[in-house]
Amino acid sequence: MDLRSCKLRWAAGHVRAVVVDAGGERGRDLEGAAAARVLAAAEPLRVALAAGADALSIDVGDRVVRASVPGVRADGARFVALEAEVREVARAILNELLPSRAADEPATPSDPAFWSMIWQTGRDGWELGRAAPPLARWVAAHPARRARALVVGCGRGHEVRMLAQAVAAEVVVGVDFAPEAIEAARALTADGTEAAAGAGAAGAGAAGAGAAAGSRIEFRQADVFTLAAAPERYDLALEHTCFCAIAPERRAEYARVMQAVLVPGGRLVGLFWQHGRAGGPPFSVTRDEVEQLFVAAGFAVAGVEKAPDSVASRAGQEWLIELVRE
Ligand SMILES: C[S@@+](CC[C@H](N)C(=O)[O-])C[C@H]1O[C@@H](n2cnc3c(N)ncnc32)[C@H](O)[C@@H]1O
Repeated sequence: MDLRSCKLRWAAGHVRAVVVDAGGERGRDLEGAAAARVLAAAEPLRVALAAGADALSIDVGDRVVRASVPGVRADGARFVALEAEVREVARAILNELLPSRAADEPATPSDPAFWSMIWQTGRDGWELGRAAPPLARWVAAHPARRARALVVGCGRGHEVRMLAQAVAAEVVVGVDFAPEAIEAARALTADGTEAAAGAGAAGAGAAGAGAAAGSRIEFRQADVFTLAAAPERYDLALEHTCFCAIAPERRAEYARVMQAVLVPGGRLVGLFWQHGRAGGPPFSVTRDEVEQLFVAAGFAVAGVEKAPDSVASRAGQEWLIELVRE
């Protein structure tokens, strides 16, 4: 989710919680246990700012918190000092406002039905509406011709179109096992909606025709774990919130699949999310875990950086890691 802001207002008998993201504003009046959970999470921030405040407003993009007491705000160094408290409030609000799994939904993220349900119920909290900035920056800095490029768990295909625009590839293939994802990716690629939504150079015209560098685009409905058995091999693969979507016990298998689908010398460039929360998806991972997994699967680590240009809601939590298949 590209979170812009969230607000909390204490009222008689309930709490009003509101989040604003790229898709607009949604709010809910919370009562009982839900209200108590959010208030408990917000208490340290409220006490730090103004114990008498009956509302808090967090502007994630501008990095400022305002309390409902005239003149009380935290920005700059004060915001940084309170960042852990701010995160707790935002997390508690999001946990209450984003719909949770229904009892009859498939429980495992290895099942495409799990993701179909998420797509069908609009719980695409990961959606940025554009390619992840750190990956777009890496691709812009490495415009070398690539014969075949792959984007795993491509969702709406923002990274596919970004790649096809930026590098001259024979083909850029986006793979996702949820039919809703592939349908959405094809629709965006066919009608240029993404360009109209302000994604700039990542926009696309008819399938493949929007690829300025001449790359053909293909979206395929397939399970990433079946790709090693398919005949195609790639010299570049991009990873953005697919690794964090798979069950942690399948991570070594994922690394082996990526090794199998890349040609020797091929690169896997991934944005790995270390949000530090328990459970998932998204499942958190550390830089060390990523390095160990992929080195064990036959990769060399060619570059690691804490991404300086993550979206605000993931700031300081993403590792941009470049892996070379040996
Ligand atoms: C969190 S979403 C991210 C989508 C996209 N990468 C983005 O960041 O906008 C994860 C996507 O990976 C897909 N996915 C999860 N496991 C997969 C698998 N084993 N094979 C193919 N797709 C998978 C899901 O269907 C979902 O669309």
